[in-house]
Amino acid sequence: MAEQRITRRGLFAAGAATAVGTAAGTVAVTMAGTMAGTAAGASPSGAATEVPSGTATEPFHGVHQAGIATSPQAHAVFVAFDLKRGTGREPIARLMRLLTDDARRLTLGRGALADTEPELAVSPARLTVTFGFGPGLFEAAGVESPVRQLPEFETDKLEDRWSGGDLLVQICADDPLTVAHALRMVVKDARAFARVRWTQRGFRRGAHVQPAGATQRNLMGQLDGTVNPADLDRAVWLGQGPLRGGTTLVLRRIRMDLETWDELDRTGREFTIGRRLADGAPLTGRAEHDEPDFGRLNRLGFPVISEYAHIRRARVDDPGARMLRRPYNYDDGLAEDGTPDSGLLFAAYQADVDKQFVPVQRRLAEGDLLNEWITAIGSAVFAIPPGCAPDGWIGETLLADGP
Ligand code: HEM
Repeated sequence: MAEQRITRRGLFAAGAATAVGTAAGTVAVTMAGTMAGTAAGASPSGAATEVPSGTATEPFHGVHQAGIATSPQAHAVFVAFDLKRGTGREPIARLMRLLTDDARRLTLGRGALADTEPELAVSPARLTVTFGFGPGLFEAAGVESPVRQLPEFETDKLEDRWSGGDLLVQICADDPLTVAHALRMVVKDARAFARVRWTQRGFRRGAHVQPAGATQRNLMGQLDGTVNPADLDRAVWLGQGPLRGGTTLVLRRIRMDLETWDELDRTGREFTIGRRLADGAPLTGRAEHDEPDFGRLNRLGFPVISEYAHIRRARVDDPGARMLRRPYNYDDGLAEDGTPDSGLLFAAYQADVDKQFVPVQRRLAEGDLLNEWITAIGSAVFAIPPGCAPDGWIGETLLADGP
């Protein structure tokens, strides 16, 4: 059986082969022509192909902040801070200048100011750093707040440790080490001005695991993110006022009861959402992006898509009034009995929280079959200021000295 023996020498040689090309900023990999490999651009013959490396960047500057319209990266952390007592407009502006400067550097693959581990910054892996201001920040700055906390919903079981916050930093990248490093730099910057209130980590499919633009699956196994607005100028970005070019974020931490969800048969699970598990097609359609036919009845005269199916309750007919959903899964370990602590970091961006998010959430709270298996345990709302120019800083339109 000599040919089956794996030698240290053999392993070393194989390792050296896969490392070829890293110096050039790309990784040469050999794929066996599997479906995943083919989708990622591998030749079916199994020849070496190139996949983008961690050096890929997302532009930091612009009319809008990055991290919203950006094709979702694989990893995210959302961190919320509470401002220290007495931190008013001027120190907040100083903090935002500092944070902007570090975000600008890190997203380019350069170390933050006074970075003690600049080597960790060299692979930005499409890093984006997005800032949001909660109602408390506006109050501290003496500026009228464009956002407020959500009204109460009957189905909520909100915990303080996942809710609220004055300042939000959303860090996303295709690499978890990049996210961890950026988070550390951000927390160091903020330390003199604010305390961490909560951190929430999330993930999606790994980069290159599925074709670009394909809808991800959540931990309930559903394709999640099919219906999103196409015209972000109408649905997401604000067109006037000091937040022009900005938007708002509602972040909800929604726990899933996967143990009881697993007890439901496949038909029941599809009936709950109104879409098929295999391909995400509506129960009245054949493909994921087919329009659901909410009027169609079955042989017994009942709607094929239930009156209480999630997609019917969440439906907003006007595409310009839809929220942009950019959710991340969370999976924070297991209890002693093996029960998972997992769910969805439901992140929705919209021009107007009261007109776009609240009515949908109200309809869901009033009657959504999915409520049996999900519970909102955290909730926070932030105004997302516009992006900035290379010589500007995030928040300047709201916090710069007045006349
Ligand atoms: C753990 C919680 C949730 C899960 C597992 C979930 C899952 C899904 C799934 C599988 C779909 C169908 C595919 C798609 O269009 O993405 C969907 C659609 C949708 N969901 Fe949720 N969702 C959750 C919470 C929420 C919440 C809190 C809201 C808003 C308040 C919401 C709003 C929507 C909207 C607007 C749609 C599109 C409906 C349409 O027009 O077809 N979802 N969701």
